[in-house]
Amino acid sequence: MNRTDDLGFHHRFVEGEPSGDGVTLLLLHGTGGDESDLIPLGQALAPRAAMLSPRGRVLENGMPRFFHRLAEGVFDQIDLREQTDKLVQFIEGAAKAYHLRKDRIVAVGYSNGANIASSVLLTHPSLLAAAVLFRPMVPFSPSKTLDLRDAKVFIAAGNRDTIVSPQETSRLVEIFENSGAVVTTFWHNGGHELGQDDLDAAERWVSEWREAQ
Ligand code: MLT
Repeated sequence: MNRTDDLGFHHRFVEGEPSGDGVTLLLLHGTGGDESDLIPLGQALAPRAAMLSPRGRVLENGMPRFFHRLAEGVFDQIDLREQTDKLVQFIEGAAKAYHLRKDRIVAVGYSNGANIASSVLLTHPSLLAAAVLFRPMVPFSPSKTLDLRDAKVFIAAGNRDTIVSPQETSRLVEIFENSGAVVTTFWHNGGHELGQDDLDAAERWVSEWREAQ
């Protein structure tokens, strides 16, 4: 396992096994998390895949995030755009440095990490093969129609989430579907925190995605 601050982000990289089919999970933590947070979750979803786990570059009261916000759910759009571009450069750089298959990069994000993953999908539609988004929000409404026909998206939402309303989840699903992405939505009977059922559903979805490759 590598732990480094190269490539513009503190990050951890865990090499995949040959039987991991060249899949890399790009793990994107929530507010206050770090590069170690989602490694166990990634290993539960795809035990033999490589794990690439950056730490968000922005601090909010000492808590790492992937972009600034002005208030809960109100994003600093200029910073979001800048940080999205930085993350994209990181992904490109890491793909070269660690010899990753660029057509097998799957984002797995929670909350703030899911939001930047959506922003990557909506600004660089061909970069990610798939995305597993736990409790995502709409990062911004795209001004033009995108071509996300090659992207597969899994969204796990909480029907009693006080941070992300069901309407917001539906809006995000609609944005992805209008761009041609195939979206699977899982509803957890609870709030913003993840339950075992979220993880089980995501694991099934990742296995099915891999079988279909
Ligand atoms: C965000 O700021 O990205 C969302 O409000 C989720 C979070 O609380 O991190």
